Amino acid sequence: MTTAHTVDLAVRRLLVAAGQAPSMLNTQPWRFRVRHGPVIELLADWDRWLPVSDPRGRSLHVSCGAALYNLRIAARAAGRRPAVRLLPDVQRAPEVLACVDIDVRGPATAEARQLYELIPYRRTNRAPFDERGIPARVLADMRAAASTERARLLFLDRRSATDLLDYAAIAQDQLAGNGDYLIELAAWTTGHGVPAHVQGPRAIGDVDPIRDFGHRTGKARFEPHPRLAVLTTAGDEPIDWLRAGQALQHMLLAATGHGVSASFLNQPLDLRDMRRRTDPHHRCGHPQMIMRLGYGPAVPRAPRRPITELLA
Ligand SMILES: Cc1cc2nc3c(=O)[nH]c(=O)nc-3n(C[C@H](O)[C@H](O)[C@H](O)COP(=O)(O)O)c2cc1C
Repeated sequence: MTTAHTVDLAVRRLLVAAGQAPSMLNTQPWRFRVRHGPVIELLADWDRWLPVSDPRGRSLHVSCGAALYNLRIAARAAGRRPAVRLLPDVQRAPEVLACVDIDVRGPATAEARQLYELIPYRRTNRAPFDERGIPARVLADMRAAASTERARLLFLDRRSATDLLDYAAIAQDQLAGNGDYLIELAAWTTGHGVPAHVQGPRAIGDVDPIRDFGHRTGKARFEPHPRLAVLTTAGDEPIDWLRAGQALQHMLLAATGHGVSASFLNQPLDLRDMRRRTDPHHRCGHPQMIMRLGYGPAVPRAPRRPITELLA
């Protein structure tokens, strides 16, 4: 059996990197099985699934996809050429979301090393952002990062962003009236998950681009015209969700490298999932993440599980 003590340092570094990924309510719904080869299997941890707000397991897969991206980039930075198979055996081993063979060596590119080094600096930033616009070349870099992982990043114009903020506020109100949702939320926002110190301040005035997890501290005025973007995929199946997660983390690390932060407003998507609705076919694809982008102050990091808990 593989334990934290028998896993060698090189593999441990990959798992630590994977564990820094963003996840819905910081559930960290992943585990890893290390096999000879070495091959690392990424497993869904269904004990950390959110059955009320994520009935399809979409957000669980997106979160695990983000962890997979970190694992891949850490392997690249360590001079490996990871070969990844998504959902390698859905019939016999449905819990295995990906299989990463790290046996083959390959040169660590400067880009892989840089993205790997940015992992600890990426955080969800729920503070107000300043008024600076994000330069076109930075947006292009983020868009390219998403498309490398087979997803699309759409930047909304001011009018669409205002409409989406209104829609997020309506979704937020509807969620606040759902008792089962509130019980699930409370379980992940007191103590572990998303503790109060990372929930950001309450908004002064009309513009509130932050999802309310119930324990925001202090008050602040947010930027009057939040810069919003939507990450979409061509399909809306588990394999697409894993791709969305990898795209998310790739573009967030690219953003971090440019000093750009992100927070998320996925209430409309969660409400859609909870109502068991799917999107009408849209030429831009299926929305998987809604995010606010900009330049913000340094914020504290959310807690993470120790690596001993991550090994299956
Ligand atoms: C699929 C997914 C959905 C998320 N939805 C939201 C959201 O709606 N609102 C929010 O503020 N953060 C959201 N987050 C961010 C997580 O809360 C955050 O990643 C987690 O608390 C860990 O913190 P960190 O990103 O700072 O490491 C989401 C993250 C993922 C991967």
